[in-house]
Amino acid sequence: MENQEENQIESFDSAAGESVGQAEEPVNPPEPGTPESAGERRGFIKFLCAFIGTLISAVPFGAGVWSYFDPLAKRNKGGGDGFVMVTTLDAIPADGSPAKFSVVADKVDAWNRFSNVSIGAVYLRLVDGVPKALHTVCPHLGCFVDYRPGNKDFFCPCHNSNFKLDGSLAVGVSPRRMDPLDIQIRNKTEVWVKFQNFQPGHSDRVPV
Ligand code: FES
Repeated sequence: MENQEENQIESFDSAAGESVGQAEEPVNPPEPGTPESAGERRGFIKFLCAFIGTLISAVPFGAGVWSYFDPLAKRNKGGGDGFVMVTTLDAIPADGSPAKFSVVADKVDAWNRFSNVSIGAVYLRLVDGVPKALHTVCPHLGCFVDYRPGNKDFFCPCHNSNFKLDGSLAVGVSPRRMDPLDIQIRNKTEVWVKFQNFQPGHSDRVPV
């Protein structure tokens, strides 16, 4: 009987010993401040830097690819042919005096599309019933030219250049006359202007 009990005890011991031998070591997180935790932190920071670097370089690259392939980005402002509808014929003074009109169009660059924004202004006037367009920017250094109804002329206040109604230089330092712009009448009454900017300071018109 005693032998039997001893055998049982031995078998329990051996079973306990086996189970202790098979048990997995508990995995404890590295203590803060130990070399293991510092290594993990360094690894995470490296990954984060690589991720942010990739993101930063991917965004402009993607925008460049988009602007290269997107046909909208290649479109001229306001219309495919560069003409923008500015007003209708009946809005231009019938007496031949100039009136200033904003040029409103869609503006597209590599990053954004802005709908219906002002991209400049033109003076329109009727000459024998035919509309003529002049850019409102002075060809000297780019100030805005005013129309003076009392004098029936255009005047740039920056350096006192004076222009006649047809845009030719009367007196002043401007190297060329006011810039005329092409016009088309569409659908009988719509006034479309080929709006473009020119570099100031040149005697020739150099498109921007
Ligand atoms: S900017 Fe107009 S005269 Fe100089």
